Amino acid sequence: MFEENGMKGRKVLITAGASGLGLEMAKVFSAAGAKVLVCDVNQQALDQARAGIAGLHTTVADVSDEASVAALFEEVRNRLGGLDVLVNNAGVAGPTGYVETLSKSDWDRTLAINITGQFLCARLAVPLLKQSKAGVMINLSSAAGHLGFAGRSAYAASKWAVVGFTKTLAIELGKFGIRVNAILPGAVEGPRIRAVIAAKAKTLGAPVEEIARAYEDQSAMGRMVSARDIANMVLFAASDAAASVNGQALAVDGLTQALI
Ligand SMILES: NC(=O)c1ccc[n+]([C@@H]2O[C@H](COP(=O)([O-])OP(=O)(O)OC[C@H]3O[C@@H](n4cnc5c(N)ncnc54)[C@H](O)[C@@H]3O)[C@@H](O)[C@H]2O)c1
Repeated sequence: MFEENGMKGRKVLITAGASGLGLEMAKVFSAAGAKVLVCDVNQQALDQARAGIAGLHTTVADVSDEASVAALFEEVRNRLGGLDVLVNNAGVAGPTGYVETLSKSDWDRTLAINITGQFLCARLAVPLLKQSKAGVMINLSSAAGHLGFAGRSAYAASKWAVVGFTKTLAIELGKFGIRVNAILPGAVEGPRIRAVIAAKAKTLGAPVEEIARAYEDQSAMGRMVSARDIANMVLFAASDAAASVNGQALAVDGLTQALI
């Protein structure tokens, strides 16, 4: 029974949880009875998140910065007293443009947050997850983690890396009872995707409405997915209901087979 998802009292860290998908995950995990800590680079957004979710723990941390992640895990030990679930959610859209136009600094920054950030968090989480009875790691990838994505090579490269990282950790950690899965969202309705659509329209010299329609049409369902759809899948993948789901790239995209 999914109602008995076993989340009550579980210690959960969600990176970049002050807004967007991470905030929706914080709501869903908190509602399921978990003890949730979110980190983010945006203090103001963290304050707002804390005001909106009873019992939510928050701390400032940049997942791409080794010292900041070390301080984050001090907070995990002090505030949560251990860790059952790590959600490596932090990720940025990165630059939009064909490869010959991209700067090395934009490329580096995208990989530093989207994949190196997951590595920095994972290596400090694993000793804590090994002490848990039901350790889980969930890594946010994207539909761009199994498809090519013209104009978004830095993002796609980082999100394919997340899938390789996930499958490898699933093999390394399975014998410790730790499950590691990747979630691959399609286009999620919200402010982030609207910014991405605007940037794409500019690059292609096309009207914003046309690109927005094309984003909806890239799903077989003819619409974008919701933040709640993603949060629900993360909760399921973290729960005991998914006790044998390991090393998977779980798409939540209404069936998307090509990205524009
Ligand atoms: N929204 C989508 O359409 C979509 C689609 C596919 C995959 N994803 C993935 O889902 C995850 C969440 O996406 P989102 O749309 O909620 O993101 P978002 O752009 O809304 O950002 C969420 C939060 O990340 C924080 N953040 C940025 N850099 C950070 C850093 N270095 N350390 C800590 N926090 C940082 C921001 O302050 C913000 O509060 C990302 O990994 C993203 O790539 C999103």
